[in-house]
Amino acid sequence: MKLKGNWNFPTLIRFGAGRIKELPDACQTLGMKRPLIVTDPALAKLPIIAGAVRVLSAANMQSAVFSDMQGNPVEENVTRGVAAYQKGSHDGVIAFGGGSALDVGKAIALMVGQNRSIFDFEDREDWFTRVNVAGMAPVVAVPTTAGTGSEVGRSSVITDPRDHTKKIIFHPRMMPGLVIEDPELTVGLPPQVTAATGMDALSHCLEAYSTDYYHPLAEGIAVEGMRLIKEWLPVAVRDGSNIEARSHMLIASSMGATAFQKGLGAMHSLSHPCGANLNTHHGLTNAVVMPYVLVWNRAAIEDKMVRLAAYLGLARKSFEGVLEWVLELRKTIGIPNTLSDIGVKPEHAAAFAPQAFADLCTGGNPVKIDTPQFEKLYMNCIRGNLQL
Ligand SMILES: [Fe+2]
Repeated sequence: MKLKGNWNFPTLIRFGAGRIKELPDACQTLGMKRPLIVTDPALAKLPIIAGAVRVLSAANMQSAVFSDMQGNPVEENVTRGVAAYQKGSHDGVIAFGGGSALDVGKAIALMVGQNRSIFDFEDREDWFTRVNVAGMAPVVAVPTTAGTGSEVGRSSVITDPRDHTKKIIFHPRMMPGLVIEDPELTVGLPPQVTAATGMDALSHCLEAYSTDYYHPLAEGIAVEGMRLIKEWLPVAVRDGSNIEARSHMLIASSMGATAFQKGLGAMHSLSHPCGANLNTHHGLTNAVVMPYVLVWNRAAIEDKMVRLAAYLGLARKSFEGVLEWVLELRKTIGIPNTLSDIGVKPEHAAAFAPQAFADLCTGGNPVKIDTPQFEKLYMNCIRGNLQL
């Protein structure tokens, strides 16, 4: 099978090894002549960004690079990017990198034409209708990790400095107009990052599949995403240069983000306060909390897990089968077992529980969880307690 394709769902995607060379054409397709490349500081130093600037310049497109951002991006990263965009009279954004770069790039493209604060566009009620759509800039997205799926998402997660919480900034038009998915760009990712980001993709598929909302389209995408991750994530972690594994993981990541239009759940609710307060890695945190949330949700998802186990070809076609697979996968790819292994302490549980309860993902969890229960769930994750 040739792992190449042009798709127009959920947006225009040019998929296949080596397709980064189509970057100038992608920009022209969206009417850009002076793109601002938004990336993270580590990537900005690597040859792929210099290469992108060079191919754009060879096509008579003058670009600039903005990389003043951090993992778990904050409002200031976006504000500075908007200033760079305006100073350089840019006419579009190339969001190039992992989840943080993609989210900041999309948020800059949103904010270049607005008069309000970014947090006025949080994903609540109909706040997205406040956006001046005509002011939004076009975005070409180029993912370099396989996990976040932000390249096909309609939101950015940005930390609010006022209360140190992660806010989901949403507008339907934040979906990038064109995506280049080139698995060769992910070959250099070290095994730990491959593992952590891959588990973010799994958490998207698993939470989208588990949530109660009715959305069979998203559910179908989620289960095939999980099958690809089951087959190929261990291979990508073991042998980063395996293009077949990198290809399947890259599209599984986009599938996770497409599926989570259906909803997410407590894995993300627990993870967000850890990232916002302790700067833990998002995908890694989701990977750690995953089995504890599955156990917590068991009564509501038992039947679904039987179906999933059958589709994944697990030996035990049951909830236990899925749980065992998740635990085994985590061990194989080197994910720590408890939140305390990644710096979350028992005293954080009480402080983070109200933030987890207030998180937008909480509404999607198949079992209702209140603040005291979130504290207990945090303690389960911190102590490694897989019982209810
Ligand atoms: Fe996520």
